Order: sequence, then C-alpha cells, then structure tokens
Amino acid sequence: MAQDQSKPSGPDLTQGVPEAELPDGGKLVGHVGDEEVLLVRRGADIFAVGAHCTHYHGPLADGLVVGDTVRCPWHHACFDLRTGEAVRAPAIDPVACWTVERRDGKIVVREKRAQPKPRHGKPAAKAPDKIVIVGGGAAGFAAAEMLRRRDYQGDIVMLSADDAPPCDRPNLSKDYLAGNAPEEWVPLRPEKFYAERGIDLRLRQQVLGIDAGGRQVELAGGGKVAYDRLLLATGAEPVRLSIPGADQPHVRTLRSLGDCRAIIEVAKSARRAVVIGASFIGLEVAASLRNREIEVHVVAPEKRPMEKILGPGMGDFVHSLHKEHGVVFHLENTATAIDGKRVQLKGGESLDADLVVVGIGVRPRLELAEKAGLALDRGVAVNEYLETSAQGIFAAGDIARWPDPHTGEKIRVEHWVVAERQGQTAALNMLGEREKHSAVPFFWSQHYDIPINYVGHAEKWDEIAIDGDIAAKDCLLRFKRNGRVLAVVSIFRDVANLESEVAMERAAQ
Ligand SMILES: Cc1cc2nc3c(=O)[nH]c(=O)nc-3n(C[C@H](O)[C@H](O)[C@H](O)COP(=O)(O)OP(=O)(O)OC[C@H]3O[C@@H](n4cnc5c(N)ncnc54)[C@H](O)[C@@H]3O)c2cc1C
Ligand code: FES
Repeated sequence: MAQDQSKPSGPDLTQGVPEAELPDGGKLVGHVGDEEVLLVRRGADIFAVGAHCTHYHGPLADGLVVGDTVRCPWHHACFDLRTGEAVRAPAIDPVACWTVERRDGKIVVREKRAQPKPRHGKPAAKAPDKIVIVGGGAAGFAAAEMLRRRDYQGDIVMLSADDAPPCDRPNLSKDYLAGNAPEEWVPLRPEKFYAERGIDLRLRQQVLGIDAGGRQVELAGGGKVAYDRLLLATGAEPVRLSIPGADQPHVRTLRSLGDCRAIIEVAKSARRAVVIGASFIGLEVAASLRNREIEVHVVAPEKRPMEKILGPGMGDFVHSLHKEHGVVFHLENTATAIDGKRVQLKGGESLDADLVVVGIGVRPRLELAEKAGLALDRGVAVNEYLETSAQGIFAAGDIARWPDPHTGEKIRVEHWVVAERQGQTAALNMLGEREKHSAVPFFWSQHYDIPINYVGHAEKWDEIAIDGDIAAKDCLLRFKRNGRVLAVVSIFRDVANLESEVAMERAAQ
C-alpha cells in the first residue's frame, strides 16, 4: 500500500478552529507544522491525535469513533484517543497525541504530549520469571511486544524456525511480491528492536518437543530451554502438491520471506507462470505476478473462485476482476504432473510455465502440541483465555481453536489480525490477567487496487443480503443464518464494515 506523502491538509490547528466546526461526535483534520492531526470531540472532551494509522497509514478521519477510541477504516486497528495507544492490532505503535485548549470560542492545538503511559489494569501479583514463545510470526511477535509494553521484566525467549525476524506476511503476496514495496517494509521491526527490548530472538531454531511436566522445550541439535509460561504460535504451513515434478526448483509455495524471495528470483526471468489453486494467496500471487507483466494461468478445481468463503456473487466478481487483468483461468481442472516447464492438466491440456506457485491451502503446525499430549480439536484446543489443556501452556494464531462468543462455536481461522490479537491476549494471560479473547475475527485481501474486508465468521449461511453493487465495487454483503448476521464482506464500504464489527461485538456481550 503506497504511503501517503501528500502535504498536510486542513487548517493550521495552532491558530485554532471555531468550536462550532467540531460538533459533538465530529472529526476534523488539520495540521500542526508538517503533521496532520485529527481532532475528535466526545461531549466535553476534545482529543488531538495523529491523523494516520501506524499500520499502513490509513486515514483515521475516515474511520469510526467508538467510545474513547478511533478505529482505522482499512484493517480495523483501534487507538485510544486519550493515550494514543494501539489497543488493537494490526497497528502496534501508538499515534501521537497533542494538548488541546479552548480559547475564545476556538479549539487550539498546542504542543505534542510526551507519549502518556497506556492505562493498564493492576499488575499481576506474581509474574513468571521466564516466558518462551515458539514461533516468530504474527502471534509470537505481538505477544512479545505486548509483554514488554506491559513492563514485563522477566526473560522472553522467542524461538523461530524462520531465518528472518518476524515479517509482514500479508505483504509477501501483495506489494512486496508485486515489486511495489521495498524489502525494508517487510520486517515488522528492525533487528535491533529485539535487543533493545530484551527479547532473545533465536532464528533458525526448530523446536522438536515440549516436556510439559519438566517445563522445558527441546531444540533440534539437543539444547533445552526452560520456561515458566509457554506460548505456542507455530502457525501453518502450505499444503504441498503431491504430483510428479512438484519437487522442481521452479515450483514454489509461499509462506516465509525466504519463499517470497525465491519466487521473486524466478519471476525476474519468467514469462509465464501457473498458479495452482484459486485461494486468497493464489489469487493475490496471480495479481502480483501480473503487475510484473508475467502471463498468469490459474488452475483450480472449483467452478468459481472463492465461492466457498465469499459466496457466488463475490466469487464471480473476483473471477472477472482477474480476467480483466489478463489472468487466464482453468477452472474445474487440476494439475496432474509438472514435466519440466510443462504443467499437465487433468483435461489433457498442458501449460508452459517458467514459474509454478502452489496455493492449495495450509495446514496448522500441530506436531509439537500433538507430541506433548495437548488436547487437539482440528487445531490446538484452547479456552477463552487461550490456555491449552496443559497448565502454563497457551496457544495463539493459526493453530488455535477457541470458543468464539459471536457464533457460539469453536473456531480456528487463518487471519493475520486474529493471530496478532490472540498473541496479545495470551501475553496478558501469561502475566496472570484473565482476559477473554472475544474480538470479532477480521481479515482483508487485496486484488490489484480492490480491497476486500471481511468481519465475523460464517462457514455456512442460508442467505446473503447484498447492499450496493458488487460489479461497481461498492457493496456490503451480509452472510446470515436463521436471520442472524454471522459475517459481513465489503468493498469500499469501510465505515459500514466497522459498524458491523461493533454491532457483532455488542450482540455477543
Ligand atoms: C503470503 C501470505 C499472505 C497472507 N495475507 C493475509 C491477509 O491479507 N490477511 C490476513 O488476514 N491473513 C493473511 N495471511 C495469513 C496470516 O499471515 C496468518 O494467519 C498469520 O501469519 C498467522 O500467524 P501465526 O503467528 O499463527 O503463524 P505464522 O505467522 O505463520 O508464524 C509461525 C511461526 O512459527 C515458527 N515455527 C513453526 N514451527 C516451529 C517449530 N517447531 N519450532 C520453531 N518455530 C516454529 C515459524 O517458523 C514461524 O516463525 C497471509 C499468509 C501468507 C503466507
Ligand atoms: S492501515 Fe490502519 S489498520 Fe491497516
């Protein structure tokens, strides 16, 4: 997503704006020096905070004010208007806050405030001495960051099988792969962050086992690391294709930064690519490769891409969108072999491919939990506090199946924001708090310049109510079961999407 380099807009807030221009509940953007500042009025309180989200620079003025918070329209981060704290991922850093004064019927913004300490609950009576996190992805990173944000003074060891520090995984199939984002955007934090925060990040460290009784994990190579609390955040791995020829170097899957670099390397000299699977990742990869002017063919067994998750109308839309951008689909078809640079299809046809990207789904990495004897339920079973069946062991992210208060079902999802929020909640609970994970699931996907935002969770529905026009890229779809809205999907209806999130939260209280 391009970062906004435009000049600061709106009035100079140091000169003041008439109070009448900011009615109760209103928002107004102006500037202080070079910085854009958002003014929000809530009854007698007036807040002045940075106007852009610290995730991807989303315009908070176009978001939704809920109580003393503002939610970002793009990917539903949430900031405390009093402290600037990013109280909900995907934003992690706070927004700046300014002092506001009322003078002669005007609202005047004065100096920037030192970042106030976030308001926290009571510290836990006895924090554990050492917390070990297995996984250097969304959930693991968010947990470690939250532990230090909450002034946890004990040891944090983060063990990651990756060879790079935690990265912005969603970007790997979008702007970074498309060639629109430099690699320095990809790490969630520079390497020095971990040393500065006293987070002992150990890369290329495969954890082979957990001794739950002895409270230690066993590393490949024979080492052991003791813990008082353990967070399992091992994520998911791509399902591999098991057809002849799938082990060739130009046949790739995409999960890690290393995977993405390898795809880019092949893409540099590729003229034709075949994407196997019309999943979110498969189609985002197709869009990114088209941006590199590579001819792209998508092979998938379904009749309509994404129908299972987004319904037929949105499936048709996504299909047409990619066709308009030159993607050639081979639906209701599968690849049976990859013979050098020829991909054989079930129907007898074959396609030339310098690059093959396989996006046929992922499988949660459950081996550690399984070997340790933790309760499993098509994922690691956790309670509302994200505790597993073993004392002192928590799980978060793609592996965790938790009791979702909105659907009343136990669900497991593979969404970035959910993994981060679960990592944060698990961090608090490892410190002895009792915070339920009750956030409504949210994910986004990006195809060319079209964002698709999904809030809630609907595996099955009996009605899809459509507001607006899908083909005109201005719509909101409500997925209902027995009249109840389980999920909402929208294109360019960000505020309505946020309002749906709030309604789902309230309905589950
Ligand atoms: C290319 C791509 C694009 C995506 N785009 C989106 C998107 O647009 N929107 C969205 O909502 N979601 C998206 N997702 C999904 C999202 O990235 C995942 O839901 C999220 O990363 C899950 O976080 P996690 O912490 O559970 O796992 P991960 O982020 O996968 O992290 C797992 C970590 O565990 C480590 N690990 C695993 N096993 C071991 C072991 N035995 N020992 C040590 N370390 C281990 C791994 O090395 C890794 O560091 C995308 C995923 C991919 C791959
Ligand atoms: S830009 Fe605000 S949440 Fe992503």
